[in-house]
Amino acid sequence: MPETTSAAPASGTASTRRRQLIAGNWKMNGTRASGVALAGAVADMARRNAPPCDLVVCPPATILMAVGGRLAGSTVSFGGQDCHAKPDGAHTGDIAAPMLADLGCRYVIVGHSERRADHGESDTAVKAKATAALAAGLTIILCVGETEAQRDGGQATSVVGSQIAGSLPEGAAAENCIVAYEPVWAIGTGRTPTGEEIAAMHGHIRASLRKHVGEAADRMRLLYGGSVKPSNAAEILALDDVDGALVGGASLKAEDFLAIAAAARKP
Ligand code: PGA
Repeated sequence: MPETTSAAPASGTASTRRRQLIAGNWKMNGTRASGVALAGAVADMARRNAPPCDLVVCPPATILMAVGGRLAGSTVSFGGQDCHAKPDGAHTGDIAAPMLADLGCRYVIVGHSERRADHGESDTAVKAKATAALAAGLTIILCVGETEAQRDGGQATSVVGSQIAGSLPEGAAAENCIVAYEPVWAIGTGRTPTGEEIAAMHGHIRASLRKHVGEAADRMRLLYGGSVKPSNAAEILALDDVDGALVGGASLKAEDFLAIAAAARKP
């Protein structure tokens, strides 16, 4: 199964044991026609030239069914961008995790900084959503990341550590939980932290995760997100403790998304 992280071989570093994953967050972009065309281009390109990583796209909820249909039989998985904490009920406009699972989603993003900022989602709310997603059998892509002011104030690691402590659900394991580090100031800005800063934060995140899930933290995949593009993907994906990328803007062009995937570390 492409999503399964393999057991540690006797040789090789911790990084080489984790198959990288490139996830595209399409955000609020796409109609049925454009989404199906994009998904089709991604699937066709991945078939012709298989990248050394797992591929996931997260389209808007309105086109999940159409995109899922186009991806059937391909190597590309798909997921939602958010879910509600309850499995059903009187929550106008919301989408429950079992509904995403019903559409064939394997993944759901939770706690994206745009949700945290635009919808006031606290760590507690994110944890409740993540818990619901796991209960529905989905794999979560749990987003954390500091603002620019927090980084400038020297609080980046403490902010991210407390986001993990507050939003990681019970039952999180390497098989059902992926953590995405997305510095808020790097999202959609074209700016990225230095390689040293990304590697240091990912090391810090893995150490925090170890406190919560023990050795499973060593098999859990940690994605970097924020202005990942073809020109910086190889450098970022080669970093210690970086097990893939969560890609926004560049995931809206199949060529760019696949160029990023092609830069993944060989398993
Ligand atoms: P970006 O977005 O790649 O456009 O910076 C990343 C994200 O928000 O997941």
